[in-house]
Parts: sequence; C-alpha cells; structure tokens
Amino acid sequence: MYQVIARKYRPQTFAELIGQEHVRATVENAIAQRRIAHGYIFSGQRGTGKTTVARILARCLNCVDGPAATPCGVCASCTETANGASVDVIEIDAASNRGINEMRELRENVRYRPARDRYKVFIIDEAHQITNEAFNALLKTLEEPPEWAVFVLCTTEAHKIPATIASRCQQFQFRQVSFEEVVGRMAWICGQEGIEADSEALAALAQAGEGSVRDSLSALDQAIACCGNKLEAVQVRELLGMFSLEAMGRTAAALKAGDARAMLDIVMELERDGRNLQHFSRELSRYFRNLLVARVAGPEPRLISATAGERDRLADTAQLFSEEDLTRYLQLSLDLFRDLQYSLQPRLQLELGLLRMIHAGRMVEVEEALASLGGGGGAEAPKPALNNKKTEAAGPAPVAPPVAPRGMAGDAKAKMLAALEELKMQFTVDAVSHSAVTESGGELVFVTPAAFRIAMSEKDLARAAEKAFGRAMRVKVTIGEGSAPAAGETVKATAMEASDAAPRALAHPEVKRFQEAFPGAQVRAVRDLKE
Ligand SMILES: Nc1ncnc2c1ncn2[C@@H]1O[C@H](COP(=O)(O)OP(=O)(O)OP(=O)(O)O)[C@@H](O)[C@H]1O
Ligand SMILES: [Mg+2]
Ligand SMILES: [Zn+2]
Repeated sequence: MYQVIARKYRPQTFAELIGQEHVRATVENAIAQRRIAHGYIFSGQRGTGKTTVARILARCLNCVDGPAATPCGVCASCTETANGASVDVIEIDAASNRGINEMRELRENVRYRPARDRYKVFIIDEAHQITNEAFNALLKTLEEPPEWAVFVLCTTEAHKIPATIASRCQQFQFRQVSFEEVVGRMAWICGQEGIEADSEALAALAQAGEGSVRDSLSALDQAIACCGNKLEAVQVRELLGMFSLEAMGRTAAALKAGDARAMLDIVMELERDGRNLQHFSRELSRYFRNLLVARVAGPEPRLISATAGERDRLADTAQLFSEEDLTRYLQLSLDLFRDLQYSLQPRLQLELGLLRMIHAGRMVEVEEALASLGGGGGAEAPKPALNNKKTEAAGPAPVAPPVAPRGMAGDAKAKMLAALEELKMQFTVDAVSHSAVTESGGELVFVTPAAFRIAMSEKDLARAAEKAFGRAMRVKVTIGEGSAPAAGETVKATAMEASDAAPRALAHPEVKRFQEAFPGAQVRAVRDLKE
C-alpha cells in the first residue's frame, strides 16, 4: 500500500528530527535526569513535529531499555508505538472527540496502571478544540495525576488552552523549520525514493511549505505524482501555482521604469496562461518581502528562503530600490493580496494594485523632493506636473513669474550666435537659434528642442561662449521647448514670451533647485502669469 511521504518518513528518534533543537535538548535532559512532567503542551505551527515528538517521547519513556533519550527501536513497545498500536500510548484527536464523555472515559482510563509499559501516555491532538467541560475533566486529572500518567497536549493555538491547565504543564513552542533544513530533509528523502530533483525544484517545494515540514512533504508527494521520478523547477512551480524569480522580476523592472504598460502586459499574460491571480499576488508579497530583507540585511540565508543563486539575484534587484520603496511595495502587495481574496473582478483588482505601486513610487519621490525644497512656497510653490513615463514624471512646470532683468537673455543669445557664426559652426548656429539662452553668474543655460540637441555639443558651446563673453563659461544644455512656441500648447505662449519668460524662469533659483532635486527633469512649458 502506498503511504504518503510525510507518514512514511515520520522521524522515530530525536536524531531524525530537524529543527526544534530547544525542544529536543530539554526533553532529552528531562529523560536523562528522570524528571518527567505529567503534562506537556506542544504548541506551534502545523506540521512542525508536535505529534512526532509526542510519539518519540512516548517511545523514550516506554522502551524496555528506557527511559532513554535513544529508544532501542526494536522492542515491542518501540515498534508498537511507531505503528500507533501500543495500548499504553493513547492518541486522542480532540477535533473529533470534543465531548465530555471522552474525557470522562479518559479519566477512568488514567486510573488503571499501564497494561505493559512504564507509562500511560495520552497524546491529545488539536487540544485547543476540546470543550470547557472536557478541559475541566482533564484539569481534575492533572491536579492529582497517577505517577504513570503523562499527558501531551498538541495545539496550533496555545492561547486557547485555559491557564489552569497550562500552568500545570511544561510548554514547548515549536518553531517553523528553516528552509535549508527542509530542503536537506527532502533531498535525503528523494535519495531514498530514487527521485531526481533539481535544487530549485526542492526550493520551490520548501517555499510552498512556509516552514511546515508536512506541507512541504505533501507538496513533494504531489510533485512526484504529477512529474514522476524527475522533478524540475518549472513544472513544480507550475503545479504549485508558484512563479520563478524571473517572472516576479518583471514587476520589479516595470516598477523601476515606471512602465504602466508593462504592468498591464504582465496581467494580460497571466490571464492568457490561465494562471491563478491570487497565487500571483501571494507570490508578489513574498517577493517584495524578500527584496526588502535583501536590501536591509543582504542575501542572508537564514532570512530568505531561496537557493544561494536566487538570493544573490534578489540582492541585486533590491539594490535598484530604496528601503522605503520596498517597504511601500510590500505593504501595497499585501493590500492587493487581501483585496484579491474577496474580489469578484480579480483581474481589475490586480491591474489596479500594480498600477498603484507604480504611482506610489512616484508620488513619494515627488513628495520628498517637495519637502526637501522647503515649505516657503505655500500656494505659490511650483508644482511638478506628473506624466506617464518615469523619466518625465518629475518634469516641473513652474508657474511662478520669475523676476529677472529683461533684455539680458536676448543679449546672451545674440552674442552666442555671433560667436558661432564666426567659428563657422553652422549646425550649432541653427540649433542655438531655436534655443532659449540665459546667462547668469558665469553659467550659460540653453533650452533646446529635442530635435536640435544633437548639434549642441557642450565643448563647442563652451568654446564659442569664451569667445562671446571673453571668459570661460559653464555651459548647460537641457531639452525643452526652446524659443519656439510649442505646437498644441494650450497655454497662451507666444514666441516673444517663450524666448523671454522661459529663460527668465529657468534662471530663477527656485526652478534651479527643482532641477537639482529632479535630475534629468525637463521644463515642458513656461507661462507668464502676468498675462
Ligand atoms: N521537525 C520535523 N522533522 C522531521 N520531520 C518532520 C518534522 N515536523 C514534521 N515532520 C514531518 O511532517 C509530518 C507531520 O508532522 P507532525 O504530525 O509531527 O506535525 P504537527 O506539528 O503535529 O502538525 P499538526 O499541528 O498539523 O498536528 C511528519 O510525519 C514528518 O514526516
Ligand atoms: Mg499533530
Ligand atoms: Zn525499545
């Protein structure tokens, strides 16, 4: 008969147990010193070894050579306990035996000496499920236990055990088993079973278990049933509804680029391939959690459940973002996961959630920059205009009328044009004539339409500028509307205004601070508020 892997490989001794070192050490000591308590509470996440350790404890206590921390494994007591067939080891599933009658029976049963073994061990699984009356019955027994009685209450919800009971028991908190230990255990089991599994396939199985050994082993069973004796990461992930790092990386790339379109494409492909959108959002949260941890702590194996290669890739990606960004993305992905649980329109919800992430990254950048610019602006403070692409997102459109001496800008342009003519830089003459030019404090700023940018070599301009102004000048070229009014511009912009107001606006210190705060930002339009 086929036996599921989790049961077939249930550890029979402490040596086989993975994780839970603190439990193991204390219980082994207690046995060695013959200080056996009458009540134990084993609490913690499902599938981490509570029932397993309860049975190991029973074997340790009842082995003919015992009590011993390493039971012989061959005596009648050892083998029967392993099969769940020992009359003196009584397992009660409280989930199905919640009633007071069962506890009454148990109270009766406790009174009689063990049939064969040293101790009568009562293992009560899902102990939080027993009713109050049943707890009271149990309490009576725990208050005056016969010397041979040992109770082990196993529960995932220790807080539901009444304090009166808990105070009479020794408590052990079972922990999640580490990723690497689960992977190691599965690799060993695969070896025993003649299964070939690549390391990323085992990693996916371990990740799916989230620290529960049983869940990982169940996933392994499922994978073997579906893929046979050779487990590959791609198939295993598909089976478990998981996603590769590369697949998740696409969302990070889209976030980095502020590319909303790419995000929508990701959702489209998920739908097309029939992937489960909830699974995707769960994986997304895990992904951002790992990126955040990698950003804060580096590719730390104890904190990130992934292969060494995956951890390094996570750490590389994490460097593209700030800790604040990643914290925000994690929060938003958790919100998204939650919303998707109840959503009747998961696709829309997912699209909305992903687009929100893009905007979150952007908004905060702008907010922070605004904050760093100081609060002096108030209502008159220049407001950046958000745009679709991240590169343009920070393009401020200053609306404050700058105060700069008139005439000066025109002079600079004329001087430059003359110098360039003289140097016979015809292409540059053309480009500068389409540009807005301002000079202040030894710096020349050119705002040039994109089409002419290529003819604006900073070196050439600097050479011409030295000729025009009789001294070395710093030269800065930015792409913008230049001196020609923009086509389709809705604001009233005249050629005169653009060649005059624009350079003055650009020379304004507030605008300059903006441009420093948003490197690569473009001024897309300048409007003279006096009009
Ligand atoms: N610490 C562990 N070391 C090795 N195997 C483990 C461990 N924990 C669980 N397993 C595996 O998972 C199976 C289930 O474990 P066990 O029944 O002890 O979990 P549990 O903590 O009692 O879970 P639940 O809360 O669901 O009852 C075991 O048969 C074993 O194969
Ligand atoms: Mg159990
Ligand atoms: Zn034995």
